[in-house]
Amino acid sequence: MGSRLLCCVALCLLGAGPLDTAVSQTPKYLISQVGNKKTLKCEQNLNHDAMYWYKQDSKKLLKIMFIYVYMKLNLNETGSGRFSPHAPDNAHLNLHISSLEPGDSAVYFCASSQDTALQSHCLPVQKPPGPARKLR
Ligand SMILES: *[C@@H]1O[C@H](CO)[C@@H](O)[C@H](O)[C@H]1NC(C)=O
Repeated sequence: MGSRLLCCVALCLLGAGPLDTAVSQTPKYLISQVGNKKTLKCEQNLNHDAMYWYKQDSKKLLKIMFIYVYMKLNLNETGSGRFSPHAPDNAHLNLHISSLEPGDSAVYFCASSQDTALQSHCLPVQKPPGPARKLR
């Protein structure tokens, strides 16, 4: 149990702060113990219909996790039941993660886009890895 407690999961979220409108993620940084449950919140005020969660792992690969269009699940690439997104309205997509694992340590990006038609494989332009802080 001792080594289990030492194993922490660091989740990092980059995004525009509350004063910088568009897409904002909270919290910005999160450190938790393995096994815990956490929620990453995302909000956009662009009147967009589609929202996205991406994960950038330690190899810097940016992978799509979920796409929600009009509050409905449109794409799920997680292959895991531990991630449960919740879209209370068009402007929010909160990501609940249960029983955190060391492999969850990553940078999580939320994005939004206009989506006038339901397209399962039309991905938005992705932000390249780097210090840029905003996704639209
Ligand atoms: C995503 O897919 C995985 C694997 O099929 C499944 O276990 C999980 O429940 C799905 N998540 C959602 C939110 O539908």
